[in-house]
Amino acid sequence: KGMKETVGQYCLIGSSLNQRQSDGHDAAATAIVRTHFNTAVAENCMKSESLQPEEGKFDFSAADRFVEYCEKNDLKPIGHCLVWHSQAPRWFFKGKDGKEVTREELINRIKTHIHTVVSRYKGRIHGWDVVNEAIEDNGSFRKSKFYNIIGEEFIDIAFQEAHEADPNVELYYNDYSMSNKGKRDATCRLVKHLKEKGIRIDGVGMQSHNGLDYPNIDEYEKSLEAFAACGVNVMITELDFNVLPNPRGFGGAAVEQNYDYQKKYNPYTKGLPKDKAKELNDRIFDFFKLYYRHRDKITRINLWGISDANSWLNGWPVRGRTNYPLLFDRDYKAKPVVKDIIKLY
Ligand code: XIL
Repeated sequence: KGMKETVGQYCLIGSSLNQRQSDGHDAAATAIVRTHFNTAVAENCMKSESLQPEEGKFDFSAADRFVEYCEKNDLKPIGHCLVWHSQAPRWFFKGKDGKEVTREELINRIKTHIHTVVSRYKGRIHGWDVVNEAIEDNGSFRKSKFYNIIGEEFIDIAFQEAHEADPNVELYYNDYSMSNKGKRDATCRLVKHLKEKGIRIDGVGMQSHNGLDYPNIDEYEKSLEAFAACGVNVMITELDFNVLPNPRGFGGAAVEQNYDYQKKYNPYTKGLPKDKAKELNDRIFDFFKLYYRHRDKITRINLWGISDANSWLNGWPVRGRTNYPLLFDRDYKAKPVVKDIIKLY
């Protein structure tokens, strides 16, 4: 039995797929997908810089293969993401005169991008992350180009446009550090605002890039409950567990040249010590116990990667590390916690 037959009775369960995986070139990943998952997200190929690298020149090749891979392997495909300040192409914010784009033009670009992308996959995508990471930890809006040039209305516009392009597709707001009270309250305000305006929103995504010591699981639970109380589904969208210390303010290259780098910031190159592995296993299981308790509110649990070998956390926030954030190890072998999860459900 896999997670698909157990966890999958209550909610969608899946992972992000990197391009090699959604191109069908990672047989070990496909074996895991078929046993354990019923949903997937494209890790990068549906971001705006990939889909529209130049104005009006869309490149759907990798995204098409992702959707086809999902259809072939019985995975509900989730689109990630329509409006995000990061991994957006530079031209998006540049006006025809080389200066900053005008408000009117930026609204047009958002609408064209969303309309073109969402209509292409109409009826084939289960849900879209419409807006990603628009709120700061303290609850204010992120001062992104979208916000600075358009104002908070860019969020309404994006959801509205996505809904018009595919009236049946689910629409989500997605963000990290959702356990913060400021972010929790602001996200609830946003959900209420959209609902009052009659704009469709189906769910809130808690990215859940966790560590061993953060977030505080009680605060995280409060957010999960608060979002459900606003009348939307809760989704765990980018779950992983960073076991390495996070040096703040270090650029990747600087750290790698640092004499102490291996010892200090990449301490587990030869594997996790037993006590750390146990701590990680317990920590992951604590979160799944929480998800199980709230299974009436959670409609999807999505890992941010399949195997530790694929995790973005080997390269972020500093490059060249050996991290252990996921449910399957570098040999694509299930960690003990997978059995625990299957038994729990
Ligand atoms: C990450 C990908 O995993 C990396 O491959 C890429 O280089 C940067 O983006 N929040 C998100 C995801 O919403 O899209 C990010 O994915 C991780 C943080």
